[in-house]
Amino acid sequence: MGLKNTTMFDIMEFVLTVLVILSVATPGLSSTTKTFNVLQYGAVGDKKTDDSPAFEKAWKDVCKSKSDISQLVVPAGKTFLLKPITFTGPCKSTYTYIQLLGNIVAPKTKSEYSGYHTNTWLGFSNINGLIIKGKGIIDGRGSTWWQQPCLGNPSPGTKCRPPSALTLNRCYRFQIKGLTHINPARSHITLTSCKHGTLSNLRLIAPGTSPNTDGIDISGSRNIQVHNSFIATGDDCIAISSGSSKIKISGITCGPGHGISIGSLGTAGKVDTVEDVHVKNCTITETLTGVRIKTWQGGAGFARRISFEDIKFVRANSPIIIDQYYCPNRFDCQNKTEAVKVSDVTYKGIVGTSLTEKAINLSCDQNIGCSNIVLDNIDITSAVPGKEVFSFCHNAHGRAINTKPAVNCLLK
Ligand SMILES: *[C@@H]1O[C@H](CO)[C@@H](O)[C@H](O)[C@H]1NC(C)=O
Ligand SMILES: *[C@@H]1O[C@H](CO)[C@@H](O)[C@H](O)[C@H]1NC(C)=O
Ligand SMILES: *[C@@H]1O[C@H](CO)[C@@H](O)[C@H](O)[C@H]1NC(C)=O
Repeated sequence: MGLKNTTMFDIMEFVLTVLVILSVATPGLSSTTKTFNVLQYGAVGDKKTDDSPAFEKAWKDVCKSKSDISQLVVPAGKTFLLKPITFTGPCKSTYTYIQLLGNIVAPKTKSEYSGYHTNTWLGFSNINGLIIKGKGIIDGRGSTWWQQPCLGNPSPGTKCRPPSALTLNRCYRFQIKGLTHINPARSHITLTSCKHGTLSNLRLIAPGTSPNTDGIDISGSRNIQVHNSFIATGDDCIAISSGSSKIKISGITCGPGHGISIGSLGTAGKVDTVEDVHVKNCTITETLTGVRIKTWQGGAGFARRISFEDIKFVRANSPIIIDQYYCPNRFDCQNKTEAVKVSDVTYKGIVGTSLTEKAINLSCDQNIGCSNIVLDNIDITSAVPGKEVFSFCHNAHGRAINTKPAVNCLLK
């Protein structure tokens, strides 16, 4: 980051983030903690009883308690069944701490979701200072949704959206750490309109064949870090979409899945923006795509200042992609004059193997192209003995240094 781009606001954000991390790691001796255990509110934890009413009651007390840390304990050795539930703030404490030691499971059948007007199974909304930490397992029991994503028997053509497993909406200064998430109906974790958050030491697991099970979806969010996590799932390991900026990702082991994606942006003519996304030290294994920026024709806005550094691919399909012709369902998305502007994208220190021949595909918009695309120290070979890999590029502008396979539309 150039100093001249650093505003007072950025510095304040940084200081805030550091303060959050310090104070969570070392709550001072003088800090007050109030603890509420879900068992005190009648939760059973036998994996059968609907424990949502007990959690709701406990949450009310947690949220209105005024202390430095207000703590909700979900005890170890038990499995709590929760129906769709949203834990809503604002809360009174500086930190609201969910200590997830036991496990949480979703309803087994889709009918148990009917009557809930929500896009998510477990929601956290409008909370400043949220910590969710522990060794608990969150099981979305999503397999019934994967087979047939709608409730009941909707008429043909109805669009159905299974619930995301865990959603944070308008949460600020948050930390999610150490949890294991398995088999969500849709995404494992969704962040919408959040700021100053860290997700780390997570395990997000679903079958490679499960549809739409993104690992972490980030949209409309700023200043988010994702570190040292293992993601093996059916769709994008991490997807960053419109309105997101200052996203740092590192130490991710991804695969199976669809890799790490930015987009899709600019669907149906929308103005979408993503900037300052930095992905570092990740291993991407046997994924459908590797690191990808995808935009629809006819959109507007930008994807800029993005870097992928120290990435290792192991038998990945299509490791490096910029696709400005993204159009999976082929509805009215061709030959548009507008496009999302892609610029200042750096790929540096990328090694490994590709299962497909086209290791690098930079397909930029026919009118505006992509600018300042830099490839630096890239060495991708074929995972198939005796095969070669190739690059494809259209309207991409920038430089390629020490890049194998060679990318002929970029300057050397
Ligand atoms: C890189 O990521 C791995 C996890 O995949 C982690 O164990 C390691 O500490 C990271 N290295 C650095 C230098 O951050
Ligand atoms: C887009 O333009 C190409 C080349 O001009 C043309 O062949 C193609 O039919 C057009 N597609 C649509 C959907 O208009
Ligand atoms: C690269 O991506 C573009 C856009 O999706 C696609 O049309 C093209 O076929 C791809 N190139 C190769 C060589 O696969």
